[in-house]
Amino acid sequence: MTKEVKKWWEYASKGYQKECKIPIDIHYGPGSPNEKNLKLLGNIKGKKILEIGCGGTQCGIAMAKQGAKVTGIDLSQEQLKFAKNLAEKNKVNIKFYQGDIKNLKQIKSNSQDIVFSAFALQYVDNLDKCFKEVNRVLKKKGLFVFSLDHPFFKTADSKTLKLKRSYFKTGRWTETFSDKTKKFVVYTHNISELHNLLVDSGFIVEKVIEPDSRKRYKKDPWYGLWDYTPKYLKMFPPTIIFKAKKI
Ligand SMILES: C[S@@+](CC[C@H](N)C(=O)[O-])C[C@H]1O[C@@H](n2cnc3c(N)ncnc32)[C@H](O)[C@@H]1O
Repeated sequence: MTKEVKKWWEYASKGYQKECKIPIDIHYGPGSPNEKNLKLLGNIKGKKILEIGCGGTQCGIAMAKQGAKVTGIDLSQEQLKFAKNLAEKNKVNIKFYQGDIKNLKQIKSNSQDIVFSAFALQYVDNLDKCFKEVNRVLKKKGLFVFSLDHPFFKTADSKTLKLKRSYFKTGRWTETFSDKTKKFVVYTHNISELHNLLVDSGFIVEKVIEPDSRKRYKKDPWYGLWDYTPKYLKMFPPTIIFKAKKI
């Protein structure tokens, strides 16, 4: 349910931004190289980019600095407050909307060159709806590039490295926050589900990337935080990335 996700992000935003200190960079999440290394977006100068689940929009700002026309959408008022301040400090012009990315009603059909999302789609309770909306707003042959939790990362205990959960148990999942006092909700999908949802929503999948998290990447602000310990990252990939194209 979107309500509980929103409630979590309104509560967690300040602490999250303070703790991670995410640099202005097009990142893909923990244990992953950034766009400078992966080169999934191509030349973005002059391109219309929609960032869904933009959070603090550190990626969107980096894109705007490269000449893209960026729009950011997020559910959380607190995250958007942070994003607007950061965009202002960086002297870039980004259009922001508050909303649920399962319904991109603010965005015209066939209007975007790229839809991008870093590490947000694991919070979405109905990816089918979201992917169909992304397809609607993209121009023909437009790119949909996103990263999210690797489903295998959720199958073990990060301290003991022992398996705790079946890979096939997808759907709503409650995580305990590191301070043990709070819980938050994510939705897991295994890799074939994600691939098939994209195909059923009108995309061709061009690339699936499972970054090798045994290495430490420059500018990875999550390395060593929470479950992203070097020991765990050596065995379990935290991030998976998809590059898809609207047919
Ligand atoms: C881990 S943060 C990632 C933020 C940003 N993309 C980044 O890379 O730093 C996840 C973000 O997704 C947003 N989010 C979760 N579910 C959403 C939904 N259904 N619609 C819009 N935003 C959502 C949250 O509010 C939060 O800002």
